[in-house]
Amino acid sequence: MKFLSDKITNNSHGQDSSYFLGWQEYEKNPYDEIKNPKGIIQMGLAENQLSFDLLESWMAHNPEAAAFKNPEGESVFRQLALFQDYHGLPEFKNAMAEFMSEIRGNKVDFNADNLVLTAGSTSANETLIFCLANPGDAFLLPTPYYPGFDRDLKWRTGAEIVPIQCFSSNNFRITESALEDAYKEAQKRNLKVKGVLVTNPSNPLGTTLTREELNLLITFVDEKGIHLISDEIYSGTVFESPAYVSAMEVLSELKDKTDDVWERVHIVYSLSKDLGLPGFRIGALYSNHKMVVSAATKMSSFGLISSQTQYLLAAMLSDKKFTKKYLSENQKRLRERHEMLVAGLREAGIECLESNAGLFCWVDMRHLLSSNTFEAEIELWKKMVYQVGLNISPGSSCHCTEPGWFRLCFANLSEETLGLALKRISSFVASEQPVATSPRKSNKSSKRKGFTKWVFRLSQNNDRNRER
Ligand SMILES: Cc1ncc(COP(=O)(O)O)c(C=O)c1O
Repeated sequence: MKFLSDKITNNSHGQDSSYFLGWQEYEKNPYDEIKNPKGIIQMGLAENQLSFDLLESWMAHNPEAAAFKNPEGESVFRQLALFQDYHGLPEFKNAMAEFMSEIRGNKVDFNADNLVLTAGSTSANETLIFCLANPGDAFLLPTPYYPGFDRDLKWRTGAEIVPIQCFSSNNFRITESALEDAYKEAQKRNLKVKGVLVTNPSNPLGTTLTREELNLLITFVDEKGIHLISDEIYSGTVFESPAYVSAMEVLSELKDKTDDVWERVHIVYSLSKDLGLPGFRIGALYSNHKMVVSAATKMSSFGLISSQTQYLLAAMLSDKKFTKKYLSENQKRLRERHEMLVAGLREAGIECLESNAGLFCWVDMRHLLSSNTFEAEIELWKKMVYQVGLNISPGSSCHCTEPGWFRLCFANLSEETLGLALKRISSFVASEQPVATSPRKSNKSSKRKGFTKWVFRLSQNNDRNRER
């Protein structure tokens, strides 16, 4: 530890969460239909693998874009190899801004000059925190929230997260009193509140914010003189009504451009989910604040999108016929998968929070807990991983306030594998019937011994886990 920075020797990365530990367990024993049919099925990964064929077909019909050629067939290899302007390729920024508008039913007009390109939303979120907060300043986040935020918002910036506590009794909706309570809590801890950060649609809930919630949020940040960051990374995945409403849309309805809150609402976006391209690292932040845009553009030097990726995506996103078809077909596929998961779980006696977006369901397994505690939630989660063979994300890893909720992803696996996962869940639930009447009691207690042996092994060197 000697001569190393405090940043890397303290434990603030947030990786000691069951969310990431589940990943480690999956990687040791991954399911494969042929090679490892008893392995762990990955349902803890918010990846969209449902529409690769559409992207591949576009590339097959447009080979010049991926081969560094312009529409005239001339090579642009040298220009791309040398290109290093951190403002990004203008044609890509325009295409990205238009794609973002298209997702919002063209109700929001994004100006490419206010867009800053970043290596994914991870980088966009962190960059915004660097621009808006000093170390020790706080952002309020509704619970449950994406576990990666503990790393993205806090680790390198030194900022703090204060939870806005949301509950199942109103379907985890954000209320005025929850916002006020979080604000007071931050003040009690002597933290200066710089803003609220929401994900819309929500990861892990899979729900979109209502107009009432968005009104409430804009009014709240306006009154307090703080910022609103709206992470809209799942905005193109909304597969069911109500239709998607962006924070920018509500802002433009409520406030005049001369109002200073106009400069305090910022959007984060990425193609990791809507297009299923997390490996390409294509993200952006959008802000009406000139200084934020200028500083974030300078900071983007630390995490730019490579020029050949920008070139390829500029061509793809400029093809309006393609983007329209892609968005609707991808949403249709997501809807079908979502229905399959919800119906399969219901047959097993498990209900999900009603949702209309995202790549996952927020699943209520409270009735399967041995007690209403987070210890019992982790006990159930271990059973899910080791006994049932499914890596799912426990609600506690998302800072949920109530034990017994889990996030189950449905778009990163094939229909057959999802079918198998549902079968495994169903037989597990059947085997969990009251212990007294079950002949499996002795079997159960021997398995329990196995679980108690389970230790939270956090390999400090294991930084290669993907975090989605
Ligand atoms: C809400 C949210 N924000 C940001 C990210 C990070 O995405 P990216 O791959 O664009 O960095 C994720 C990934 O799961 C996410 O769910």
